[in-house]
Amino acid sequence: MVPSRGIALKSTRELTLMREAGRVNALALEAAKAVIQAGVTTADIDAAAAEVLKKHRAKPAFLGYGDPPYPAVTCVSVNEELVHGIPGKKKIREGDIVSVDCGAIVDGYVGDSAFSVVVGEMSPLLRRLMEATQQALAAAIDQMRPGRKTGDVSAAMQRTVDQAGFHIVRNYTSHGIGRQMHEDPAVPNYMKPGTGVLLRPGMTIAIEPMVLVGTMETRVLADQWTVVSADGSMTAHFEHTVAVTDAEPMILTLP
Ligand code: MF3
Ligand code: CO
Repeated sequence: MVPSRGIALKSTRELTLMREAGRVNALALEAAKAVIQAGVTTADIDAAAAEVLKKHRAKPAFLGYGDPPYPAVTCVSVNEELVHGIPGKKKIREGDIVSVDCGAIVDGYVGDSAFSVVVGEMSPLLRRLMEATQQALAAAIDQMRPGRKTGDVSAAMQRTVDQAGFHIVRNYTSHGIGRQMHEDPAVPNYMKPGTGVLLRPGMTIAIEPMVLVGTMETRVLADQWTVVSADGSMTAHFEHTVAVTDAEPMILTLP
């Protein structure tokens, strides 16, 4: 459709296609979640998601992405790993907080979403962290309405996380999405309300609050992908791909 300041607005037909990509992606994440327990490796979690994408003939959006090329179908990030953890031999343990992020391409459109889960008994701290991050996503989705601005989406995340006493990431953003995994606009996870780009029906944004317990500082490990909290504190990440419509915000990454 006609671009608005470089932002590709999606037609109803395109939103239907994006919903299908999002649905398949959600099924892959469900399969990943189902295998998470103490003793499995992060590679096992990746394999469960990969199998579902394959079954639905969806193309993994992350595999081969970027430089160096991302080497897996999912990102599996454990504890102090905030995002972009590369699946491998690492074993999940009781009490870990595990975040899984996946992207699927179906008929040329991308679905991108992520969840975090605590294995077994949840400590009070991780319970608060999980709740704050999910609330930040929900509050941001609620701002996805015509007439609001991207800064309102950002501010909703920042406010929720600040109030919980945690830190929202500064150097990674939420993002427009569609035929490409990353489209305009980039949407920071912190910002003043009323700033940024006006939201219009047909805009699709992958909203992804990334939350750290002790600091907003991050660092990237030697594998050039894994992003960890600078202080080693716990982290969480939830993500949905969401469309602005004339009516309610439409979550495109539901099973
Ligand atoms: N949800 C993340 C993002 O939008 C996942 C990208 S992982 C990558 O940036 F490997 F594909 F980069
Ligand atoms: Co994303």
